[in-house]
Amino acid sequence: MTHLHLTAIVLTIIFFLLTFFMQKAGKNTKVMHMILRVMYIILIVSGGILFFSVFNITFLYILKALFGILMIAFFEMILVRSGDGRTTTIHWILIAVTCIFVTYIGLILPMGFYIG
Ligand code: HEM
Repeated sequence: MTHLHLTAIVLTIIFFLLTFFMQKAGKNTKVMHMILRVMYIILIVSGGILFFSVFNITFLYILKALFGILMIAFFEMILVRSGDGRTTTIHWILIAVTCIFVTYIGLILPMGFYIG
């Protein structure tokens, strides 16, 4: 399941960037955005399965899930705001910080790859 989760993260980031740059170039991104949203679902479901397979759900797990979902919220905010021609600088900074934080928690938690 960690492999599905990691694959979903990579695909989400790829489709997010594709949608973002296609939108910037003025192309139709309906299909790309739809695929991206399917990736979100796979990401949340795989994360959810990992979450509920834990015997002892600690605070760090809850933080991991919340910030994981926050990442998805930021992806959507950036796409919608840049689609409207509004600034997204602050969102890019927030997404970078959240991404580092979420990846760090994911890796220090005991399943899958573990860098304790
Ligand atoms: C873009 C968003 C996300 C990123 C970048 C991310 C990143 C990661 C990483 C790097 C790992 C470690 C995998 C490994 O050790 O092999 C992980 C594990 C995990 N993720 Fe996510 N994740 C995201 C979204 C989510 C969401 C939405 C949820 C919950 C609904 C979630 C729940 C979990 C859980 C429970 C684990 C297992 C932790 C463990 O014990 O090792 N993640 N995530």
